[in-house]
Amino acid sequence: MRRSGQVVREILEHVRQAVKPGASTLDLERVAAAKIEELGATPAFKGYHGYPCVLCTSINSEVVHGIPSAERKLRDGDIVSIDTGVVIDGYYGDSAITVAVGNRVSEKTRKLLEVTEASLQSAIRAVKAGATLGDVGAAVQETVEAEGFSVVRDFVGHGIGTHLHEDPQVPNFGTRGQGPKLRAGMVLAIEPMVNIGGPGVQVLKDGWTTVTEDGSWSAHFEHTVAVTAEGALVLTQ
Ligand code: MF3
Ligand code: CO
Repeated sequence: MRRSGQVVREILEHVRQAVKPGASTLDLERVAAAKIEELGATPAFKGYHGYPCVLCTSINSEVVHGIPSAERKLRDGDIVSIDTGVVIDGYYGDSAITVAVGNRVSEKTRKLLEVTEASLQSAIRAVKAGATLGDVGAAVQETVEAEGFSVVRDFVGHGIGTHLHEDPQVPNFGTRGQGPKLRAGMVLAIEPMVNIGGPGVQVLKDGWTTVTEDGSWSAHFEHTVAVTAEGALVLTQ
């Protein structure tokens, strides 16, 4: 799983370089697909429940699962979430980043990116054998809500291993001490989705693209994390 995690990291850092005003999300998809091929990995998303691409690219008020398209061009001041996964020798890795496009991103939006990434880091700090999923969710929720943003509740993180999605569900909200206990050897994809406005989301008619109900902008960061007795091992670092 460390190998698939490292490959996912390499793909995301490569695609990040291609994010610029004027690039389409299909351009990003092509860059990612070529890199996956070069690294000898198999994309995890393409074909998953019929999903058509190796990346999810979600712009501004899109929360997750945006489908790359030649028609969707990035503009200066936008933000774009890039989410990808691969499978190598039967084991999955999954990670996402949200990137500012150009240099005209507003202060509030920069804060959204910062807080969402910080909420993932606080979740990672909460991971160790004996902690609970409530501890992990509470760490995200407290970080986000302290800044006045909202945690999406309709989508959650997940266990990951020989399948992209395994038990348990990993909510980005919760109560300390509650929920299933973490044990050494478990691997989780932790993926806070955070909105500037309210927590509500809806899925568009394409069956995938998920947007905020109120049109506010949204960010998403994700790591694949192994549980050890000492704490978290971030496989997609
Ligand atoms: N990171 C997302 C997840 O873990 C992406 C899945 S998109 C899909 O759920 F296309 F694979 F469905
Ligand atoms: Co995931």
